[in-house]
Amino acid sequence: MKTAVLGYGTVGQGVYRMLCSARGLEPGPVLVREGKKKEPFQVTSLEEILADADVKAVVEVMGGVKPAFTYASRVLESGRHFVTANKALVAARGLELSEIARRTGAGFLFSAACGGGVPLLHNISLAVESDSLRSVSGILNGTTNYMLHAMQTRGWDYARALAEAQALGYAEADPTADVSGLDAARKITLACAVAWSRLPDRGIECEGIESFSAGDVADLQSRSLTCRLIAAGKPAGRTVSAYVEPTVFSPGAPECSVADNYNMARYEGANSGPLVFIGQGAGRFPTASAVLRDLSCIVQGQRAMLSADCAAVEADNSREQHPYYVRCAAEAAQALPVKALLANGPTVRLLTEAISVHAMHTLAQKIRKDGGEIFFAGMKEA
Ligand code: NAP
Ligand code: HSE
Repeated sequence: MKTAVLGYGTVGQGVYRMLCSARGLEPGPVLVREGKKKEPFQVTSLEEILADADVKAVVEVMGGVKPAFTYASRVLESGRHFVTANKALVAARGLELSEIARRTGAGFLFSAACGGGVPLLHNISLAVESDSLRSVSGILNGTTNYMLHAMQTRGWDYARALAEAQALGYAEADPTADVSGLDAARKITLACAVAWSRLPDRGIECEGIESFSAGDVADLQSRSLTCRLIAAGKPAGRTVSAYVEPTVFSPGAPECSVADNYNMARYEGANSGPLVFIGQGAGRFPTASAVLRDLSCIVQGQRAMLSADCAAVEADNSREQHPYYVRCAAEAAQALPVKALLANGPTVRLLTEAISVHAMHTLAQKIRKDGGEIFFAGMKEA
């Protein structure tokens, strides 16, 4: 299957290289920006790709929603298969693309958009054929995992950890999406859409790692706790609960040993029970390998990951509850259900009783709106 590629950056170069030697696949033209053409296989307009009748599939690895959505629509309208690693695109416009694909009979797969090289969506989409899933969660952002791991084990500061993750090709073009939790939020959006045919395009409570300080690292280490950024989703009535937040783990939890750019995702099937997937969540070849896997699935006849009845919903985190580890001003802490005060003074550290994810995130927003600082992390037992 001759396959064109849109974008020749970190992932695009990996996809092109892998296409050159993959069984059943053959590399087609690669779209680069006007003025950036350096190789004979590169082109500078989508028209040149669509004019090639031998191109049967197109991979999009440019990033962003514009012009990716326009290009994706045109590819699918032409009846060609479309594979993308772009979670921003699928989270924002995936339902429309899915509808076009269904109408034209084209394939539309996006495993690389959630978990990089980890076959999470692929396995969820297989599992839902015969099982019902109770929850999906895990470490879904390689950049922040790399940063948190380096800050907690190598003593790097936040700026150095981010710079190294960028240099290694893990971060988004604008790394704010990684550190704010937005990238992980988009990934859990996709996981919910594949698992429960509900795509939470609003209401996801999202806390990243921007408030995680050297003081937090030291305090957690003194308590043998490890911090990771976790995204979680599960059914909640007619909608889903879906959120992203730092989470602290006790020794022995498998998350503590997830290092560098690795992701660790779990889902629990009503019949399969819990399943755990670990692998590189970011980087050129791990991600390209997921793209190639989707292309192979298309060759074998798979056409979709989103079901025809998948609908946009507002996430509801009001019934999802657990305790939190919190650092904030003593005055602000009065609004929290304190279970244990760990450190006293103008700034306190404490553990809360179980409270809803919605209540905790709403309170943190209010503290920041009033000019205060807060770091909070969900608590998980080993
Ligand atoms: P990247 O290194 O920035 O590469 C994107 C490439 O696309 C750049 O060369 C960019 O050119 C080009 N591009 C952007 N808009 C274009 C346009 N309109 N026409 C032609 N070329 C265009 O990004 P990446 O890391 O490969 O990521 C690509 C996508 O994969 C993103 O959606 C990302 O979220 C996703 N992804 C990345 C990873 C990873 O580990 N990096 C993992 C999973 C998923 P300029 O540089 O000139 O802008
Ligand atoms: N920036 C993303 C990450 C790329 O670090 O996980 C993989 O989706």
